Amino acid sequence: MLGGHLLHGGDYNPEQWLDCPEILEEDIRLMKEAGVNCVTLGVFSWAVLEPEEGVYDFDWLERIIENLGKEGIQVILATPSGAMPHWLTQKYPEVMQVQADGRRNLPGKRHNFCYTSPVMREKITALDRALSKRFGRKENVILWHLSNELAGNFGDGACHCELCQSAFREWLKERYGTLEELNRAWWGRFWSHVYTDWEQIHSPAPHGEYTMTALTVDWRRFVTEQISGFCTMERRAVAEYSDLPATTNFMDTFKNLDYNRLQKELDIISWDNYPFWHREKDEVPVAAWSAANHSMMRSFQKKPFLLMESAPSVINWRNNNPLKRPGMHMLSCMQALAHGADSVQYFQWRKGRGSYEKFHGAVLDHKNGSDTRTFRDVSEVGARLPGLSSLLDGTVNRPKAAILFDWENWWAVEDTTGPRLDFCYPDWVMEHYRAFWEQGIEADFVDMNADLSGYRLVSAPLNYMYRAGWAEKVRDFVSGGGIFVTTCFSGEVDDTDLCFTGHHPLEDVLGIAPEEIDAPSEEFENSFTYSGKDYPAHTLCAVVRAKEGTELLASYEKDFYAGCPAVTKHAYGSGEAYFLAAASGIAFLRAFYKDVFAEAGLENALGAELPYGVTVTERMGKERVVFVMNFRNEPVCVDGIGTWTDAETGEACADRLQLAAFQCRVLTKQAD
Ligand code: GAL
Repeated sequence: MLGGHLLHGGDYNPEQWLDCPEILEEDIRLMKEAGVNCVTLGVFSWAVLEPEEGVYDFDWLERIIENLGKEGIQVILATPSGAMPHWLTQKYPEVMQVQADGRRNLPGKRHNFCYTSPVMREKITALDRALSKRFGRKENVILWHLSNELAGNFGDGACHCELCQSAFREWLKERYGTLEELNRAWWGRFWSHVYTDWEQIHSPAPHGEYTMTALTVDWRRFVTEQISGFCTMERRAVAEYSDLPATTNFMDTFKNLDYNRLQKELDIISWDNYPFWHREKDEVPVAAWSAANHSMMRSFQKKPFLLMESAPSVINWRNNNPLKRPGMHMLSCMQALAHGADSVQYFQWRKGRGSYEKFHGAVLDHKNGSDTRTFRDVSEVGARLPGLSSLLDGTVNRPKAAILFDWENWWAVEDTTGPRLDFCYPDWVMEHYRAFWEQGIEADFVDMNADLSGYRLVSAPLNYMYRAGWAEKVRDFVSGGGIFVTTCFSGEVDDTDLCFTGHHPLEDVLGIAPEEIDAPSEEFENSFTYSGKDYPAHTLCAVVRAKEGTELLASYEKDFYAGCPAVTKHAYGSGEAYFLAAASGIAFLRAFYKDVFAEAGLENALGAELPYGVTVTERMGKERVVFVMNFRNEPVCVDGIGTWTDAETGEACADRLQLAAFQCRVLTKQAD
């Protein structure tokens, strides 16, 4: 466990208060009071660390790090590339990103530098190296935090300047070798888009080429490579004088960067979680979304991750920003731990007085010192974590189920023209995850490069693109005994968005032959009956032929395709494959997966039926540690749980568990 215990703290921006020594003193005193043991420094401090080109001022930072160290508070030290100082953008305009439409950004804001610019690379490398030399071996510095939320700017998160254009062309030369091959892969003769000179290739643009979907997918691949390269460069710079591990903070299901690629450059995964609690009275959709993202972060390296940022109270960037209702702060912190986090970190420690984030919640508000509800909420978490540290040390979630979440598939399916134009890939995937979550079945998220061995069940919703090797991998998985679920509009195209011809690549495994696909308007909604209950079929309804030996679990009931398969099951080798021909909704997915889980021999950690709004997840080590979370704002009981001990109170819990509104209880027993 990094730092030797669960981390509790967050972003600390003392450079905004350097002229108020009393504030800096109060900070450390109140950190102790709130049970804070780790802060992140320097995320946006470039202008203060290097006030003039080549002139470094690190003394203030050293004082802060040492004062924190004296009180036993550890430090995550950031490299400050997330925001550029004005002297840099004034002297070297090339460091400012160019938008897809060709406009160069003006100075200011953040997350908007060019990842290719040699000047940007040179300046930040020099600063990172100097930071590493000065602080890389300090006792209480435990981790490098590289940059901030990479690609987190507007648009496609990329820079489209001439330097990036030529880097893209070089990358394409590497990938395709010849223009002939590129034209073949991109289907260049369509609309006369044959390239005869590498210089003719330009990044996708709203007033230029955006219709060639293979170009767009390759551009996004390139952007991921370019940003990963930038991250690696920063990582090497800080490694010059320091052996500390490195991370960068990810965001939730974030389209602009393939995190499965970027994670390879990092020692530890960390992310920033800002769920929209209290968006509606039913917290389940948001709770499942937040759980899914935690699970995804854990899945990248199949080990504990860090919750790097979260709001201790309110955020400031949605149209309406509800306060966290009593109990929700603790519950959402526990949710992170439940899914594999080894920290609860916030944005931020103290609210700034001015500019864009002055109303974003922080542990300390502008007024009232420690006498606030937020401070008390945070202190409660600070008091609870030490008791859980040794219990969770060495544990991690080891699900037997996986859900495919693949960035290249995401990019491709959302760019496709027809059968719909409004695909939201994460929504499709998250609806499936929610059916898992509601039943307490934890899942990893995997991409098409993943090793599927070890999973009993793999679900691949809206798996439009089959990257090279994927069909074979699924075939092996199923024939070896695995259970595979997939949906309509899957297996349509290869890596460069070229449609498969002849047969569906998994026709033999799925036992179906897709023929047509309907995207019905509301009035043409179809339906099917599954296990005696009626469900709608809408949005996308594949019309497929079942092959001999394929079981029909449900058929369409209306229109000219009445009687055609809506849900099928097909045995292949020692395993089985299910095909969901139509989009239906959570009610159907709940019922469907209940049966699939039974078939796969998967049950939740308590082996109990969970009331709506309650879920469980388990971290395994020498002991089994089970988090039981109630996302309802009212008390509930879970029956049939077997025998456990409440890890925090020592109370024996047999058969029935009571949970208060928004409560999380941690149960334990010896692993078998
Ligand atoms: C994050 C960012 C932080 C802060 C926070 C506010 O995305 O990394 O610097 O802006 O949002 O919610």
